[in-house]
Amino acid sequence: MKSPLTAALVIASAISASAVDFTKEIKPIFTQKCYACHAVSKGKVKGDLALDTPEKLAEVIKPDGQIIPGDPEKSSLLRSCKLPDDDDDSMPPKGKNRLTPAEITALETWIKEGASITGGGAAPAVAAATPAAPAAGGVQSWTSNDGKVIQATFMGLQGEGVLLKLASNGETFIVPLTRLSAESQTQAKTAK
Ligand code: HEC
Repeated sequence: MKSPLTAALVIASAISASAVDFTKEIKPIFTQKCYACHAVSKGKVKGDLALDTPEKLAEVIKPDGQIIPGDPEKSSLLRSCKLPDDDDDSMPPKGKNRLTPAEITALETWIKEGASITGGGAAPAVAAATPAAPAAGGVQSWTSNDGKVIQATFMGLQGEGVLLKLASNGETFIVPLTRLSAESQTQAKTAK
């Protein structure tokens, strides 16, 4: 395990190193290429999948969802975007309006980084939709006191810090409780 000082530096960079911004880079892809068939606002929820509301995104982005935070390889949504045009399961279907390689890479990186829809100063309503209840042993969102979000699994309390395992790379580190938002501090203190 790392010393608390190193760990504090790691969390500081982990929390601020969100390279892909959902609102600026991922949402536009969904809007242009998926909403025609996967948006509550368009009245089209094909395959019971919608990508336009925080509630629907919460159903998609979870450890057993079509987007698995930190695990692009196992995320079926990304896989279907990468299938060849003539594959029946490819998304968008029938070779129309397929994702560009740059869009695939953005999606892949965003999922690897934890698939946060709150990064980059997105609407607070989105943050509220992220369940704060401890999901025993699962990946949860943790917010720093300056509003940055990471996806990590609670591993235990260590003195005045919380031991977290980062979803994106499996790295374990201690975050001083004082670095977390009040909500995340409560989440840490009540987690098991
Ligand atoms: C022209 C309409 C259309 C567009 C555009 C489209 N899809 Fe789909 N999608 C469908 C249909 C229809 C299904 C249901 C297929 C089935 O159930 O056999 C589906 C199913 C899916 C599923 C599987 C849901 C499940 O059951 O797990 C995923 C994931 C998916 N789409 C992702 C996307 C993504 C991501 C985009 C945009 C990049 C997209 N789709 C664009 C029509 C579309």
